[in-house]
Amino acid sequence: MSNNSSIDHALQRCNRKPAYATTEKPNTERAMNQTTWNPTTWEQFPAKQQPQYSDPAAYHTVLQHLATLPPLVFPGEIDRLLVQLAQAGRGERFVLQGGDCAEQFSACRHESIAGQLKILLQVSLILTYGARRPVVRLGRIAGQYAKPRSSDTEKIGDLTLPSYRGDIINDPTPELLARTPNPKRMLQAYYLAATTLNCARGMISAGFADLHNAAAWNLSEIENSSRWPEYRAILERLSDALAFMGSCGVRSDTLGSVDFFTSHEGLLLGFESALTRKDPQSGLYYNMGAHMIWIGERTRQLDGAHVEYCRGIANPIGVKLGPKVDPQEVLELLAKLNPQKVAGKVTLITRMGRDQVEAALPGMVNRVQCSGHPVVWSCDPMHGNTRVTAGSHKTRDFGDILGELEACFRIHREAGSSLGGVHFEMTGDNVTECTGGAAQVTDEDLGRNYLTACDPRLNASQSLEMAFLLSQLLRD
Ligand code: PEP
Ligand code: CO
Repeated sequence: MSNNSSIDHALQRCNRKPAYATTEKPNTERAMNQTTWNPTTWEQFPAKQQPQYSDPAAYHTVLQHLATLPPLVFPGEIDRLLVQLAQAGRGERFVLQGGDCAEQFSACRHESIAGQLKILLQVSLILTYGARRPVVRLGRIAGQYAKPRSSDTEKIGDLTLPSYRGDIINDPTPELLARTPNPKRMLQAYYLAATTLNCARGMISAGFADLHNAAAWNLSEIENSSRWPEYRAILERLSDALAFMGSCGVRSDTLGSVDFFTSHEGLLLGFESALTRKDPQSGLYYNMGAHMIWIGERTRQLDGAHVEYCRGIANPIGVKLGPKVDPQEVLELLAKLNPQKVAGKVTLITRMGRDQVEAALPGMVNRVQCSGHPVVWSCDPMHGNTRVTAGSHKTRDFGDILGELEACFRIHREAGSSLGGVHFEMTGDNVTECTGGAAQVTDEDLGRNYLTACDPRLNASQSLEMAFLLSQLLRD
């Protein structure tokens, strides 16, 4: 694949050898990162963004209970994701990570889960077509319950209340009792994650038949776009390809036994470590609460508890990188999180913002390339493009999101690197949280159906339209 030769070229330029493929790496070497580590060594390090529970005994009782409950995901699945991410790093796959900013307990309903899964599969189908390579589907789902906040408190009218930190910690209702962190919510999070995952696994194994029929897709808003003829042509070719495969008796990987993986921000460390278990076969510790865990922009301190926790688990790890990050710090993070340079182990998720990506990304790509670290580069075009409207809605504009994506593709291409994935906050619901897109949602429209518990998400039609545009960027 042409991407490979340009990556080889870039490595030659830096005078580095390519890193190991994951499968070539013996478990003993993967385990070396765990020798001075155990699931609780993070407790010796400063931990940002943790709630203060008023009853430590109740907190520890919940953690002990969690530690006895069965895994939600298994090492064999986690390793399969690692292999697929290694392939994405080499340009052989493309990663779609997406879902709610903050998953809510109340969204653990059949329709919500089906809606979320359906939009993720539809987008992945369009991307597969554009990228001409399999798409790794990674939901922000079944555990995306903890949120970092820029302030510990929030002023609502005359009241100063603890900030909402995600359903696993407190309740968004603006009352003191609701906002007080309650450790029992961790158990509820575990059970609802298990329920969500069971529902998603069942729906996938039963087959998402309606995806075959593009006529059943919700495209009415997109039909208003001046680019609809281009999108329709993509859909027609996609439908033909699926029909052809069907008539040959080929079960499409996208619609048949789909690989679907879960991910969430590994923020609430007590919870994460209670779900961390030693795999008796390999001797490695895995976080068995999600296939992939990521470290957020606010908690990626080199000497912090989140990096300490993540350095020891065998799961693939994502790291969010904002525009102020120092490339040297990124190299030090890579050295800590992936000293053995295992391919697929680390995904660098850049979230620079449309206005800053040009200044911040090229230098960093170059430094990482020269380090020989086999990272997967992903672009989160959401978190660097948030603004607050005059009506006090947090929003993001479709054009800014697309603009950052276009810049990312170009910057990687110019550097002989390859953008291996994208990271979206998106929903299958018909919300009005992001402006723009074919329906031309304006600032004034946002109040109509603004439902997010945290950051604004692309709605179903904005997600599909973004997928069509992305599929074109992937083909360029
Ligand atoms: C998020 O992904 O919801 C998030 C908080 O992102 P970041 O850490 O990049 O701000
Ligand atoms: Co968010």
